[in-house]
Amino acid sequence: MTRCDERPVPGWVPEAFRELYFVAAAKMTAPELDAGHCWDHVERVTRTALRLAGEEQADAAVVCAAGLLHDLGRTVPGEGDHARRSVELAPPLLSGTCLSAHQAALALDAIGDHRYRDGKVPAAIEGKILQDADRLDAVGAIGIARCFAKSSVTGRRLYSPDDPFCTAGREPDDNRYTIDHFYSKLLKLKDTFHTASARKLAERRHAFLTAFLEEMRVELGASPTA
Ligand SMILES: [Fe+2]
Ligand SMILES: [Fe+2]
Repeated sequence: MTRCDERPVPGWVPEAFRELYFVAAAKMTAPELDAGHCWDHVERVTRTALRLAGEEQADAAVVCAAGLLHDLGRTVPGEGDHARRSVELAPPLLSGTCLSAHQAALALDAIGDHRYRDGKVPAAIEGKILQDADRLDAVGAIGIARCFAKSSVTGRRLYSPDDPFCTAGREPDDNRYTIDHFYSKLLKLKDTFHTASARKLAERRHAFLTAFLEEMRVELGASPTA
């Protein structure tokens, strides 16, 4: 079986979910998805979620299905809650899997709760794991790469020339400045992880965010160590 870009389904995908992987990948190759929110992100999140499920003794089947479908709503045009749109689109795809009705409901709950901006706290461990995996993909080197990839689409500047690191008492404005997104969201994520496994992975990634900012401070001449 191959997917739309002719790469075979990777070996980490459980046998029972290879068809779902294939179908979801085909749906998420829409050209309007930017490099930070395309299928590559879904693959990373699902793979991380499966790792966390193993460490947290969660239902790997629920986690895998939820991971593969969590951002499906991004393929449907329109502003607003893509998680809600994913919940609307997922049931026909879930019905073709080995999941029981209870497992499918858990997967839908996880998908509906995953969006950072909504501030939801999932009740089930599988939902907590999906949130954790999605947020791990927003920090560290990959998180920084995704942050700047979004800027190439929205046209926001790299940083505020007057206050690059939000030290002048203003509110971060990540619609205008990329580095402001570190202060409005990325640096806050380390306190939002639910599982011990994710918190451990997040430590290194958070440290990389702060190291990146420090290097930028030096290069912009905003630090006494420059
Ligand atoms: Fe999402
Ligand atoms: Fe996501």
